[in-house]
Amino acid sequence: MNDILVKLEIKNSSVRNELEAIITSFPGVAILRPDDTRRADLLIYELGDQVENDFQLIESLKNVNLVGDVFLTAKNPAPEILMRAIKIGAKEFLAQPIDPNQIKQAFDAFRKKADEAKPKDVVKFGRILTLLGSKGGVGTTTLAVNLAVELAEEKRRNAVVLVDMNRLYGEIPLFLEIKPKYNLSEITKHINRLDPTFLMDILSKHHTGVYVLPSESYWKEGEKTTPKIMERILSLLKRMFDFIVIDAGTSIDDTTVKAFEMSDLIFIISVLSLPCLSNTSKLLSSLKEIGYPQPERIRVIINRYIKQSELTLKDAAEGIKKDIYWTIPNDYRATMNAINQGLPLSSVASNSPIAKSLKDLAENIIGKKETEKESRGKLWGWFTSRETAN
Ligand SMILES: Nc1ncnc2c1ncn2[C@@H]1O[C@H](COP(=O)(O)OP(=O)(O)O)[C@@H](O)[C@H]1O
Ligand SMILES: [Mg+2]
Repeated sequence: MNDILVKLEIKNSSVRNELEAIITSFPGVAILRPDDTRRADLLIYELGDQVENDFQLIESLKNVNLVGDVFLTAKNPAPEILMRAIKIGAKEFLAQPIDPNQIKQAFDAFRKKADEAKPKDVVKFGRILTLLGSKGGVGTTTLAVNLAVELAEEKRRNAVVLVDMNRLYGEIPLFLEIKPKYNLSEITKHINRLDPTFLMDILSKHHTGVYVLPSESYWKEGEKTTPKIMERILSLLKRMFDFIVIDAGTSIDDTTVKAFEMSDLIFIISVLSLPCLSNTSKLLSSLKEIGYPQPERIRVIINRYIKQSELTLKDAAEGIKKDIYWTIPNDYRATMNAINQGLPLSSVASNSPIAKSLKDLAENIIGKKETEKESRGKLWGWFTSRETAN
């Protein structure tokens, strides 16, 4: 029987000390250190002045399955706060001053339920998908945003985060019409506090379910995101999300190179024009030079594709000496509408070929089609082998 892992997010230090002393006296219970990124079976959270923010954070942590159940505590909770606590499914509200008996009873009840529940598959190992533009304006942000939305689509149940690595010119908030409270520089400034709860608090949540980590909005010395910091952030995000979609813009620097190294797939976004294809070729050789190990993990996507274009896909593939992995149709109206309304393409033009193509791309990445094909193949094999046996 494994220990019950408890995470404490307590603002008041004396309350924290009291709770720690009581909880550590229980057998089979362990308190997670702040930098421990394992899933907590139980989160004990003290509500502060910004209750709305607290509730949102708790819901997000539950959504991505970083915590199982929640106990809340607060100094003088208003009745409506207790109502909210019930609504988000908090299992207990611990009174202050802390009452050791209440804690004991709460833990006994929790343990009883935990013993009955089946152990869950909890270790996440998210995939990093990086989109890199062969030139500005080829549609890297459009594709990153809409791919993330498709991957997060409700029935797929994937937790998805969209990371903007366009220094200074990050446009993801505009594409999704969100007003982020924080951005990457907040993490860089407080790198010592980096843990799942802190990181989740920095992210903005879009109504499609996609979480967003915006880029720095201005440049300040000492707040640059170094490769080391990027590595820590991405490693943590991999534990929290199923997919990490990075909009790398056109930048290749030490920090983006770190992201490339950690990526499961790198998509180079191009259009069918000679300058862009020539850049794509250069990018492919640069990635090889920096030692990016597996060429099959690099995929070229042609955006704004028109069938009757002068350059054909075959020309393009011959020019860059690599197959074209995917094409996204040209659709000026749909993309413009989407940007102007701050909505994903699936909302403004759900039946358009461009939205369909992005949906299929997401499906292809998730690998659903492959799995279906595989199982069909197996079944087929089973039938034929029976036939031959007969
Ligand atoms: N498939 C497409 N068809 C037509 N226009 C597109 C398409 N993809 C992107 N665009 C348009 O191209 C412009 C640049 O897109 P954006 O995503 O901001 O590019 P980048 O991030 O590469 O600079 C936008 O006006 C966008 O609407
Ligand atoms: Mg962009």
